[in-house]
Amino acid sequence: MSLLNILRYPDPRLHKIAKPVAVFDARLKQLVADMAETMYEAPGVGLAASQVDVHEQIIVIDTSDTRSDLRVFVNPEILWASAEKQMYDEGCLSVPGIYDGVERHARIKARALDADGRPFEIDAEGLLAVCIQHEMDHLKGKVFVEYLSPLKRNRIKAKMLKEERELKKDRQREMQPAR
Ligand code: NI
Repeated sequence: MSLLNILRYPDPRLHKIAKPVAVFDARLKQLVADMAETMYEAPGVGLAASQVDVHEQIIVIDTSDTRSDLRVFVNPEILWASAEKQMYDEGCLSVPGIYDGVERHARIKARALDADGRPFEIDAEGLLAVCIQHEMDHLKGKVFVEYLSPLKRNRIKAKMLKEERELKKDRQREMQPAR
């Protein structure tokens, strides 16, 4: 298994539309395993393939306290969503350090395939419902900060770009030969 590089907002590749998975082979299983490892290591409760620059409809989620309930959603669809909404403070591995309230459907019914291509349905509420909606947005090229006001979003963008420049400088410094 290996850790994958997570794209950081505002990387334009986060806005690509993911394609459905057609082949359920060893490559897909390896990708799912690597995505799970990357999510647990980060640590995060969910990761979409779009965030690791693979533009296919694949999501991994684990909202359990024990980090022992990995859920894999391939080609997910929302079948039903409650009219009732709920507001949650969301974060995202592609926007590290930023948390803000987003309103989403309180309860959903979703359908997806597992890593072997077997279909399943799930009724979700609370954090799991939030997480499925958040990760499915990634597959459509949407990052949660796009629900925030333009003012907030621009501040977040500026902060991320500044951090990115600092990270780059650090990396360059590390690459200088010691004298
Ligand atoms: Ni996210």
